[in-house]
Amino acid sequence: MRIGLVGCGSIAQVHLKSIAALGPDCRLIAAADCERDRAERAAEEFGGACYQDWRKMLDRERLDVLHVCTPHHLHTPMAVEALERGISVFLEKPPAITWEQLDHLKEAADRARGKSRLAVCFQNRLHPRVEYVKTLLQEGSLGEVTGIRGFVTWNREGAYYSDSPWRGRLATEGGGALINQGIHTLDLMQYLMGRAPVDADAACENFHLKGEIEVEDTLTAYVRYPGAKAVLYVTTAYAADMPPLIEVQCRRGRVRMEEDEVRIWREGTEETRNFPERKGFGKSCWGSCHQEAIRGFYESLRNGSPYLLDFEQVQETVKLMLRLYGAARGEEKAKEAGSC
Ligand SMILES: NC(=O)c1ccc[n+]([C@@H]2O[C@H](COP(=O)([O-])OP(=O)(O)OC[C@H]3O[C@@H](n4cnc5c(N)ncnc54)[C@H](O)[C@@H]3O)[C@@H](O)[C@H]2O)c1
Repeated sequence: MRIGLVGCGSIAQVHLKSIAALGPDCRLIAAADCERDRAERAAEEFGGACYQDWRKMLDRERLDVLHVCTPHHLHTPMAVEALERGISVFLEKPPAITWEQLDHLKEAADRARGKSRLAVCFQNRLHPRVEYVKTLLQEGSLGEVTGIRGFVTWNREGAYYSDSPWRGRLATEGGGALINQGIHTLDLMQYLMGRAPVDADAACENFHLKGEIEVEDTLTAYVRYPGAKAVLYVTTAYAADMPPLIEVQCRRGRVRMEEDEVRIWREGTEETRNFPERKGFGKSCWGSCHQEAIRGFYESLRNGSPYLLDFEQVQETVKLMLRLYGAARGEEKAKEAGSC
């Protein structure tokens, strides 16, 4: 398969290494970045041609797959253009930053059905710890899920925003602690809940970088589901990046994921299982599952089989995220439109 990548910044290095590990039938053909030296460095290290203009790369290289690793506001337009040219897309999160973008992306994915595929990088769904908990909940011994709580306390200081100026701005990042850092935990909560929300509310604040960033560093969310509720706290104003916590309350027990551990409480017993973190290609807070997520996408392309990270499978998370922002920002229209 002929692979291209656009956006050769931090996370692209993990994609490039994962592509290099795919095997001989998958080859990086070209990389593009508006900062030419970044595309040149990627091509030097991983092979292929380099482009400053990503559209020229699409015009010239007859790609089968495009990896999109650019700032948030560019995800939808780049994915839509690739899909319209018959190129499958592996898209970094978040797939969209507004309801309009989400609609646009959905229309493009629908039009592309049968010709090209769209998957979104919510790689943590593929972590063995998450797979174990999902199976445990489906198998039913804990009973129906009645609640989920999530807790993300990370640290992002001014340098994180000044290093990549698209961060910290509403127009280009679309939000802050939720859309960029907490989105993985929100996705896992939505995935484990496995049903659509009926109502969602949220509040957000910028506590520690006032005057430096336009987006929230802290968001609290309350989500109501049929027969269940979820609460989420996410902040990037803490002193360090601590492992996120997710706990699922069920009718006959409870299960908690934190660091390497999964703890299960059931009928008066307590059990702990360990899922040691493997070494990934990037920073530890990115987790170790990009490689699995990318490998899985190519397998699904080869086999024509459904994939856990297909756009259809992750849309509910994106709708919920937009609905929470709508509520936190007092945008009634967004609240009404979010028919989660
Ligand atoms: N899945 C994860 O765990 C994970 C982790 C980190 C980052 N990300 C996501 O990856 C994306 C990129 O984040 P990053 O930290 O690598 O950012 P970054 O700023 O380091 O890299 C973005 C790159 O895109 C390039 N770019 C910007 N506009 C462009 C254009 N028009 N054409 C071509 N290139 C362009 C920039 O020059 C830069 O090299 C974001 O969506 C982020 O949320 C995901």
